[in-house]
Amino acid sequence: MALLSGKTALVSGVANSRSIAWGIAQAFHEHGARVAFTCLESTQRRVAKLAAEVGSDLVFPCDATNDEDIARTFADVGKAFDGKLNILVHSIAYARIEDIRGEFLNVTRDGWRLALDVSAYSLVAMARAARPLMKAAGGGAIMTMTFAGGSRVSPGYNMMGVAKAALECAVRYLAYDLGPDGIRVNALSPGPLPTVSAMVVEYFDQIVEKFETVSPMLRAMTPRDVGNAAVLYAADISSAMTGAVIPVDGGMDLMIASAGAHPRARPKAHKS
Ligand SMILES: NC(=O)c1ccc[n+]([C@@H]2O[C@H](COP(=O)([O-])OP(=O)(O)OC[C@H]3O[C@@H](n4cnc5c(N)ncnc54)[C@H](O)[C@@H]3O)[C@@H](O)[C@H]2O)c1
Repeated sequence: MALLSGKTALVSGVANSRSIAWGIAQAFHEHGARVAFTCLESTQRRVAKLAAEVGSDLVFPCDATNDEDIARTFADVGKAFDGKLNILVHSIAYARIEDIRGEFLNVTRDGWRLALDVSAYSLVAMARAARPLMKAAGGGAIMTMTFAGGSRVSPGYNMMGVAKAALECAVRYLAYDLGPDGIRVNALSPGPLPTVSAMVVEYFDQIVEKFETVSPMLRAMTPRDVGNAAVLYAADISSAMTGAVIPVDGGMDLMIASAGAHPRARPKAHKS
C-alpha cells in the first residue's frame, strides 16, 4: 500500500547511507512520494548519488544556520514541485564535542548558541519557509528528530540534551501556530543508531547494549524503523496527530532506570 503517492517531500540531514534521514527518504520513496534533498554543501556529491537511488535529482545545498541558504532552498523546492510541498523532514543536529562530553557544567556560551542554532532554531526557520508551500498544497506534515536525552539525563549527551528540549518545545509551539493551516508538526524520538552524529556520544556502545538486553524489543533501531514511523506521520492517516513526541525505541521509554539490574533482564533477541 502506497501511503504517500502524489506527495512531495523535502528531506534534510542525509550525510551518508547510515543517516536516519536516508532511511526516511527510502521509506518515502517506496510509499510513492517524490523526494527532494537538502544537505550541507560538503556532502552534496555523496547525497546526489544516494538521491539517484530513489529516482531524485533534486539536491539543494543549504547550511541550516544561514537564512539566505534557507530562502534559496525553499524557492528552489517551490520551483521543482509547482509551488507545493507536503512533507518536510528536519533531521539536523550539531554540538561541539567538548560541549557534549565531560561535565555539562562546563558548556560555553558559544557552544550553547551554536548547538541551539543548528539543532533547534533551524527547525523554526525551515518551518517558516515551508509554510507557504504547504498552504498551497492544502496542508502538510513537518517532523524532526529528538532523543530521550532531551527530557531526561543521558550522561554524555549534555548540550545536545538541552538542544533537544528546545527542539521539542518548538515542535509544540509550531504545532499551535501551523495547525490552522492544516500543517502538523511532530517529533520522532528514536533509540540509538550508529550514525556519524551518534559516534561522538560518549557511552554510545553501552546505550546500544542496554537496548539490546533490556528494552521490550531487545534490539537497537535501524534507519528503516524511523523511516516507517516517518511514513505514518507524513501520511494522511495521522491527520489529527500534531505536537507529539513519538518514541521509536522498541519500547525502551517504558522501562525504569534500574531495569538493567533486574534479575530477569533477558539475553539478546534471536534473529530469525
Ligand atoms: N543516531 C542516533 O542515535 C539518534 C537518536 C535520536 C535522534 N537522533 C537525531 O537524528 C538526527 C539525524 O542524525 P543522525 O543520527 O542521522 O546523524 P547524521 O550525522 O547522519 O545526520 C546529522 C545531519 O545534520 C547535518 N547538519 C549538521 N549541521 C548542519 C547545518 N548547519 N546545516 C545543515 N545540515 C547540518 C549533517 O550534515 C548530517 O546530515 C539528529 O537530529 C540527531 O540528533 C539521532
